[in-house]
Amino acid sequence: MRTDSFKGRDFITLLEWSKEEVETILDCARDLKRRYAMGELHDHLLRAKTLFMIFYNQSLRTRNSFEAGMTQLGGHAHYLDPEKIYTPAMEGKEVAYSTERVSDVARVLSRMGDGIAIRCYGDPVDWVYGAANTLIREFARWADIPVLNMEDDKYHPFQALADILTTWERFGTFKGIKFVMSWAYSPSIHKPRAVPQSAIIAATMMGCDTVLCHPPEFELDPEVIAACQANAQMNNASFTITHDFESAFKDAHVVYPKAWAPKCLFKPPVGEGDEQKAKAINESYKHWKMTRRLMETADHEAIYLHCLPADRGWEVDNDVIDHTDVLRGWRSAVYEQAENRLHVQKAVMTLTMGGRL
Ligand code: CP
Repeated sequence: MRTDSFKGRDFITLLEWSKEEVETILDCARDLKRRYAMGELHDHLLRAKTLFMIFYNQSLRTRNSFEAGMTQLGGHAHYLDPEKIYTPAMEGKEVAYSTERVSDVARVLSRMGDGIAIRCYGDPVDWVYGAANTLIREFARWADIPVLNMEDDKYHPFQALADILTTWERFGTFKGIKFVMSWAYSPSIHKPRAVPQSAIIAATMMGCDTVLCHPPEFELDPEVIAACQANAQMNNASFTITHDFESAFKDAHVVYPKAWAPKCLFKPPVGEGDEQKAKAINESYKHWKMTRRLMETADHEAIYLHCLPADRGWEVDNDVIDHTDVLRGWRSAVYEQAENRLHVQKAVMTLTMGGRL
C-alpha cells in the first residue's frame, strides 16, 4: 500500500489505523529487524532527527527501545523528566512557575524536533480514567509533529504491535490462532488497563480468535470491548469474555496473563476511587497465577507472553517465564516480545517522522 499518508500522523491507538496500515507497519518492522540482524546500517532513515520523550512514569523497555531505535535510525531520542522541566499541564491544572500549559510545550518542541513521545497514566492524573489519554490528545492537537503514545491510561499501542509481531513470528498466521489475554494476580493494584486493552484490539484486528479472561470486578472499557467485537465480526473471527481462569487457556496458542487494576480503583464516574475495596477484591484472586500445569492445557506449540516487568511468583511461576530455550513444545517468548518493541517502534518512527518525501 502507499505510505504517504503515514507521514506526520500521530500514533495514539491502533483504533485510528486500518488493518492494512498495521500490516504495513509489521512488514516494515520485519524488514528493519532483518537489516539489524544482518548488521546492515540504516542510519540514514531518520538522520539528524530528534524525538522528545516525556516520561511521567518509570520505564525500562519503552525508554531504551526508543532511544536505541533512534540511534540506529541516525537520529537522537531526548529524555525529558516532567519534574525537571516545567511540568506540562492541562488548562485548569496549572501551578505558577512550576507547570507549563501543554499547548505551549507542544508548540515549542514542534519548532525544535521531529516527534514527541509521551508516557502518562495513574498517579500523575490521579487515577482519573482517560485523563492521561486526554493529555496526550491535547499534545497532538497543538503539535505540528507526530505525537507517539508510549502508554497512557487506555492504550499501549507499541506494546500491542510487539505482541502481534511475536505471535506472527511463532505461527506465521493469525487465522485460527487462539489468543488469550487474561488478568493475573499481583500484590500491586496500581496497574493501568492499557496493555490488555491494546492487546485485544490488536489481536481482534488481525483476526485471531481472541479470549479475554478476568474476574468480574476487573472489566475493561466498554468502548474497547465494542471495538473488539466489531473487529472480530469484520474478520470472521471470535471474541469472547470469560471469568474462568482454569479453562480459558485450553488449546490456546498465545497465553498472556497479567495484572491490571480493578474498576473500583478508578475515580468516578468510571469507578468509585475506593482503594481499600480495590485491595480487598485483589487479594481474593491470589490463585490467578500462570503455572506450568495451566500452560500444559494450552496448545502444544503455545507461547507465553508478558509485556514485562512481570511480578514473578505472583503473576507467573519462574518455570513458565524462564521456559525459553526449547526446540519443541510450548515456551516463553517474553524476550523476543521485548526485543520486538525496538523493531515496531523503528517502523512507526520511520513511517511517521521520515519516510517518502
Ligand atoms: N512493557 C513496557 O512498556 O515496559 P516498560 O514499563 O519497562 O517501558
